[in-house]
Amino acid sequence: MQSPLFLAAIFTLSLATQPLFGQQAPAPAGQTTPQAQSGARPRHPQTKPVNLKVLPKNIAREDLVKIMRSYAGALGIECNFCHAVNPATHKLDFPSDAKDDKTIARTMIQMTQTINEQYMTQVHDPDAMPEDKHVTCGTCHRGHTMPEHFVLAAEPRHHPSDDDEGAQAPQ
Ligand code: HEC
Ligand code: HEC
Repeated sequence: MQSPLFLAAIFTLSLATQPLFGQQAPAPAGQTTPQAQSGARPRHPQTKPVNLKVLPKNIAREDLVKIMRSYAGALGIECNFCHAVNPATHKLDFPSDAKDDKTIARTMIQMTQTINEQYMTQVHDPDAMPEDKHVTCGTCHRGHTMPEHFVLAAEPRHHPSDDDEGAQAPQ
């Protein structure tokens, strides 16, 4: 099992090396991909992506599925949280934009890219491990669809010196 951070690093790398994907011959429509991935789902998508608006359009299928699994893992959900079911086939219609969460996810992908490209690249912290160098979906979401609200732990009760300062009202 690869960590979401690792997958996010691949994702970032895949964006940085976009031209590489251009060298791969596109799979003919309808061609089945070997189920190289362990745990591949029966509804594993088989055709070339047709509705990518933020990810590289010529992304390799394996990379796309890895990225999608990393989103699902980071938010603690399955593919159907973002992807709508086609009422006729009862299968997930991956290109469909029917679900709002897919649209939100697009914004989130762009936001994460901007944080990494415009801001994290300016941070030169000698303490940082390679995996600290990027923000991922999991950095905020930590297995939840909505990031948990951070609340400061209650202060220890009897601190005479605090009384003098009197600056912070309890929330
Ligand atoms: C957090 C939301 C989210 C989850 C969970 C998610 N996806 Fe996606 N998926 C997206 C978004 C957003 C796009 C479109 C990206 C773009 O526009 O570049 C997409 C696009 C796709 C596409 C390309 C469809 C096309 O033809 O354009 C496939 C295939 C896909 N996802 C498969 C999956 C699979 C398989 C899973 C579960 C392992 C999954 N997705 C989980 C958000 C999600
Ligand atoms: C900087 C923190 C941060 C990062 C990074 C981040 N998110 Fe979010 N995400 C949020 C916050 C905060 C919300 C709640 C915003 C709201 O609903 O108005 C949210 C909401 C969402 C929702 C809607 C959830 C719901 O239940 O309605 C989806 C889907 C989502 N994020 C997907 C992603 C994906 C996919 C990534 C990685 C590409 C990502 N997010 C990265 C902070 C983040």
